Amino acid sequence: MSGAATSGAAGGRPGTVEARHDAFVTTSGRGLNHDLPPMRLYHKAKRFGTWDPRSIDLSQDKEDWKLLNDAQKDALLRLVALFAAGEESVTLDLLPLIMVIAREGRLEEEMFLTTFLWEEAKHTEFMRRFLDEVAGVAGADLHHYHTPSYRKIFYEELPRAMHRLLDDPSPAAQAEASVTYNLIVEGVLAETGYYAFYRTLQRQGVMPGFIQGIRNFQRDESRHLAYGVFLLQRLVAADDAIWHVIDRRLNHLLPYALGVTHEIYAAYGDQHPFEVDQKEFIDYAIKQFSLRARRIEQARGKSLAEVYRLAADQVEEATRDPDGPGAAAGDPAGGPPAATGSPAGPAATTGSGPGRAEARAQGGPAAGGGGGSGA
Ligand SMILES: [Fe+2]
Ligand SMILES: [Fe+2]
Repeated sequence: MSGAATSGAAGGRPGTVEARHDAFVTTSGRGLNHDLPPMRLYHKAKRFGTWDPRSIDLSQDKEDWKLLNDAQKDALLRLVALFAAGEESVTLDLLPLIMVIAREGRLEEEMFLTTFLWEEAKHTEFMRRFLDEVAGVAGADLHHYHTPSYRKIFYEELPRAMHRLLDDPSPAAQAEASVTYNLIVEGVLAETGYYAFYRTLQRQGVMPGFIQGIRNFQRDESRHLAYGVFLLQRLVAADDAIWHVIDRRLNHLLPYALGVTHEIYAAYGDQHPFEVDQKEFIDYAIKQFSLRARRIEQARGKSLAEVYRLAADQVEEATRDPDGPGAAAGDPAGGPPAATGSPAGPAATTGSGPGRAEARAQGGPAAGGGGGSGA
């Protein structure tokens, strides 16, 4: 795809490859392709991703925190403890994918990924800021909030899938990494988490600074997810066998992703401090997951050019100007955020893939996973 090339990348260990360039995109007749979906995302990131976690005013949030009862404080602390470590984890674990993309000479994709990594660092910073300044738990150890399904995903599956790329940059390994990182962690867990924050805090009219930060997170994440869907579509279009890799990986991880919600609720017995039905979150998570899976399945049998066209439309849809008409994807005011992917896509699954996973998930976390919380 690129005019630039790094030699000897495929299959080699980074330390043993003799790196060299034979040509450069920016000094070739090709130049930068600003129409490529990742390059569109890069330009959007420069416009919309430049917020500063330190500049958000958390003074009202500190006052609101004092008015929560102990159970509410525990529930919010739990969610933030999951988010903080999750953001730290995606910051730590993205680099191997960036390295693979760079070594394939995909300059535009790598340019976008530089914004991606910076944004994850800011998300990590903001979550820690909440813990220090609003919850006031500096010095406390919060690892006890990380339950078995959470640990399975963030302590094991995510780092393993991402760091495997250092030794195995094959399309199948890239697909497994992206499913784990983009579709499960960003597409199911993070989005369900945003939904939880909006559904509880925003509806109660508390924590305005935190909610503003979460809204910024969600805008950033809509770009990250759009890239992940594009990457998987590109891999599927190049080799249809990759679809089955994706399907297997989704089915493996979905029970754990739903198990995270299940275990949050299990910690509070029958009564969740924020009085929101668990089923609402599970339904939302499944809906988000199914949308992305269908989008990727659309790429089967398509040419690369068709995938670029498809992805370009999706990028525009998923990352609308937050201040423009129609507002941001997922701007949550007054209700559940819209899905980042658009339901305007094909309504039905054509294959057994995501439909099967969906059916399995409908059984709830307990059915989904012997795997999930029992891990
Ligand atoms: Fe993030
Ligand atoms: Fe992200």
